[in-house]
Amino acid sequence: MLTGFGHLHSANRYILLALILIVIFTSFSKWRGKQSYSVQDDKLNLITFILTHIQLLLGFILYFAKGWYQFTPSTMKVPALRFFSVEHMVGMLIAIALITLARIKGKKIAEAAKRHKLTFWYYVIALILIFASIPWPFRGFGNDWF
Ligand code: HEM
Repeated sequence: MLTGFGHLHSANRYILLALILIVIFTSFSKWRGKQSYSVQDDKLNLITFILTHIQLLLGFILYFAKGWYQFTPSTMKVPALRFFSVEHMVGMLIAIALITLARIKGKKIAEAAKRHKLTFWYYVIALILIFASIPWPFRGFGNDWF
């Protein structure tokens, strides 16, 4: 069960990264092209929002089930322990908060260009944070591509 959650959490990164990139490109082109905020934009935003929160839920299940919350004196000294106990969680939480805020704040903006602009910037910062907080194989924490 836990292994399954781990695989889901791992694979979902690619779906999320793809969706975030699509939101970034569409919001940028619609912001600069002064286009309306369509039903499709809202749907894409909602799907990304939901998958982000599923990722959050899976992340916390893994965090507590695998004991990453158990801090010891060496937690902050050992890079691999510090990464999953603190850095990965904090970086992802900020990114998820930005994606959530983009949706909540965006709903209150009537002007389409302003809404696209807000979505664009919040998602760009979230993408940078997510990319930097993923344990890519080249980070040396022993994780694979999938
Ligand atoms: C957008 C958000 C997130 C993305 C894209 C993401 C991505 C990943 C990836 C790619 C892995 C490596 C999986 C593997 O190699 O099998 C991982 C592991 C992990 N993530 Fe996340 N994560 C996110 C959010 C979170 C959050 C909010 C938490 C909550 C604490 C969390 C907790 C964990 C834990 C504990 C592991 C290590 C599991 C283990 O012991 O093998 N993640 N994450």
